[in-house]
Amino acid sequence: MELNFWDQVKSQPIWIQLLLLLGTLSIFKTLLSIPKWIYITFLRPAKNLKKYGSWALVTGPTDGIGKSFAFQLARKGLNLILVGRNPDKLKEVSDAIQTKFPKTEIKNLVIDFSIGGNLSEGVIKIQELVEELDVGILINNVGISYPYARFFHEVDQELLRNLIHINVEGTTKVTQAVIPGMLKRKRGAIVNIGSGAAIVIPSDPLYAVYAATKAYIDQFSRCLYVEYKKSGIDVQCQVPLYVATKMASIRRSSLFVPSTDGYARAAIRWIGYEPRCMPYWPHSILWGLAHMLPESAIDAWRLQFCLRIRKKGQVKDSSKKE
Ligand SMILES: NC(=O)c1ccc[n+]([C@@H]2O[C@H](COP(=O)([O-])OP(=O)(O)OC[C@H]3O[C@@H](n4cnc5c(N)ncnc54)[C@H](OP(=O)(O)O)[C@@H]3O)[C@@H](O)[C@H]2O)c1
Ligand SMILES: *[C@@H]1O[C@H](CO)[C@@H](O)[C@H](O)[C@H]1NC(C)=O
Repeated sequence: MELNFWDQVKSQPIWIQLLLLLGTLSIFKTLLSIPKWIYITFLRPAKNLKKYGSWALVTGPTDGIGKSFAFQLARKGLNLILVGRNPDKLKEVSDAIQTKFPKTEIKNLVIDFSIGGNLSEGVIKIQELVEELDVGILINNVGISYPYARFFHEVDQELLRNLIHINVEGTTKVTQAVIPGMLKRKRGAIVNIGSGAAIVIPSDPLYAVYAATKAYIDQFSRCLYVEYKKSGIDVQCQVPLYVATKMASIRRSSLFVPSTDGYARAAIRWIGYEPRCMPYWPHSILWGLAHMLPESAIDAWRLQFCLRIRKKGQVKDSSKKE
């Protein structure tokens, strides 16, 4: 006697039937996640960013990712508040944007987010500006990392304090200065720049404090996403892996290491959607691969990788001193 598939299933005890059902559902979920990823990554239309308000505020817009974000936002027709530490670089960037997009209104705000600056004073300046302008978008981009990899006991006091002051306190306080206006108008989008160091790899050895500040950014964003969703404010943590900037000490871009423009062009299309996202698609392929490997293997690879960065950095440092 030959039983067909369904008769076989029906003759199993109920718990096996349940397991089969769950297994089938999870396979479907995995299969469906691929077309969903393709849709979101390549086909989903970007939100109309001007509907959040006519101004966007970008921190750290004088170099790297922040600078490209500023150009992309101007291209979308937004006016800009650029918050940076160096007045000359701010002027240079805003002149370049103005030349390319003559209709854009730009205001420069000089704030040094390091421990040498006065953050409270900076926050007051932002509050004053935000009170009179319809700021719909906030890009919390400013951030520093270690000059090169090192053990935690080798992190000097100044670097330690700056990492927390710039990455954590800066982002937190700027967000708090901008949110009341968004709440009043019931619309806004906040993008906080996180890092794969805190989200994709299980650990980032020899960058402990940097990775930990980015873990803060991730959870901070996730909570605010839930807190303010009903108030019309879309909070998001964007997660880049390596991007060719001075922070990453990478000059040349490649498929897995985009230029800042390549990154920002992808990033702008995600604003207002998922609470946590990886805008540049080759990065998310790496993320998917990392998921499949055992954590201990990634830990071991990363430690070796960062030990090499540390060695190189130390050699450079000692040749500078000579
Ligand atoms: N590049 C990557 O591979 C990568 C990967 C993951 C996450 N990220 C994150 O992306 C963000 C931008 O990084 P990036 O690679 O574009 O860095 P970057 O090229 O070093 O640019 C950093 C920007 O922040 C500004 N800045 C630095 N310290 C400041 C301070 N004390 N006060 C005010 N402004 C200050 C810089 O100003 P100056 O022009 O005056 O220097 C510059 O405009 C950071 O949050 C970083 O953690 C980067
Ligand atoms: C920082 O600025 C605030 C507000 O202007 C001021 O009250 C405070 O004294 C300043 N702090 C320092 C250390 O200069």
